[in-house]
Amino acid sequence: MLSSNFRIPTGFHVEVPGDKSLSHRSVLFSSLASGRSHIKGFLEAEDPKNTMNCFSKLGVEFRKIGNTEYEVNSPGRAGLKSPVSELDFGNGGTGIRLSAGLISGLSGIRADLTGDASLRKRPMKRILEPLSKMGADIKSLSGDGKAPLRINGRQLNSFSYHSPIASAQVKSCLMLAAISSNVSLRYREDELSRDHTENILRFLGGKIVHDSPVEFSIHPPFDFSGSKFSIPGDISSAAFFIVFGLLSGKGELRIGNVGLNPARTGILTILKRMGGKIEIENERMECGEKIGDIRVFPSELRKVEIEAALIPSIIDEIPILTIAGLFSENGFSISHAEDLRAKESDRIHSMVINLRKIGVEVDEKADGYSFSEVGSLSDGMIESFMDHRIAMSFYILKSLLKKNIHIDDDSWIDTSFPDFKKIISRLDAANE
Ligand code: S3P
Repeated sequence: MLSSNFRIPTGFHVEVPGDKSLSHRSVLFSSLASGRSHIKGFLEAEDPKNTMNCFSKLGVEFRKIGNTEYEVNSPGRAGLKSPVSELDFGNGGTGIRLSAGLISGLSGIRADLTGDASLRKRPMKRILEPLSKMGADIKSLSGDGKAPLRINGRQLNSFSYHSPIASAQVKSCLMLAAISSNVSLRYREDELSRDHTENILRFLGGKIVHDSPVEFSIHPPFDFSGSKFSIPGDISSAAFFIVFGLLSGKGELRIGNVGLNPARTGILTILKRMGGKIEIENERMECGEKIGDIRVFPSELRKVEIEAALIPSIIDEIPILTIAGLFSENGFSISHAEDLRAKESDRIHSMVINLRKIGVEVDEKADGYSFSEVGSLSDGMIESFMDHRIAMSFYILKSLLKKNIHIDDDSWIDTSFPDFKKIISRLDAANE
């Protein structure tokens, strides 16, 4: 079994940047609301900044008033205007899919939405089909169900949808389409995906009627006025340092002010089941979201079953969870995760290829992969596949083992966590 002798100074404190999902949503909801909003804790990274730039092209004014703080002035949903140039969402699937819903429901707005080479490969049929059924005029300009997307916004109809995938991006896309057209939506999914959009809607005074945890409806009017959005640290970014803390040989790591939405904390549930010593302190609520501080202690981990129902709540954390699996008794196995193939990269392929490069014998399946207990690793060159979470996961492995693992292009980290390498350098310096 692999082990690390990395020593973390006791009480080493990490602040992770603002939640990416909430940062995108703060831009979208402050754009829909009339008047002045205030955003605090915004993730200053490429993905949410691209979404912000796109909405400034629709006539919303974002003024930076401090580190991670913005004042927003919006004419409200009825006052948004057509952009004069393409809306470029870069690497951000959440940005383009949620915005596509919002813009589809805005009568008279015409826009082309696009992104980088990774985003232009990602499936958009999952939103194109239900949006079209709602009455939207949206099409894939490449003709293959992918971005660029052309939207002629119009009044949509009330809609009822049972989603074949547990995806918060699909759910939020349709919710935003209903909100911008001021019509009802009834939505059902088979497993609960992250419910940030529901929480923000409630926080802004909107009504959600739940028939079960996975089935709800929303009804107009959706006339929001400006509000104060406070964004906690991103648990998906914290996950890298939680795993780092657990796999270190000595010390204790604290991560302050992390979002603990129950639909996002599957990573904590699984790591604890694996034997991880993790404590939560100072639990509190802000803007309809649970937050708290996390303490992590070095732990011996073992393989556990990961059931299908937990997959939506760990969907972004599977790469770093796999790194924890390299240090686990009996190895690691993940199944029921076919949607990993539709992320910033095909994350099943990216993980399998990279693990093989450093000497791990991995079995690849359509919906996951597995390996038995790992004795040692070889040096190797990791391919990031234009995917921030692949780059960061292997970066953590490299630091823990102080091995010659190189990452071909770690600039992708900037899409979600620009200070990631600075925190690693602080840890490295404290360990010398
Ligand atoms: C997100 C939802 C998830 C997640 C993505 C962010 C969101 O995607 O992977 O990073 O903010 O709604 P899916 O809903 O497509 O699973």
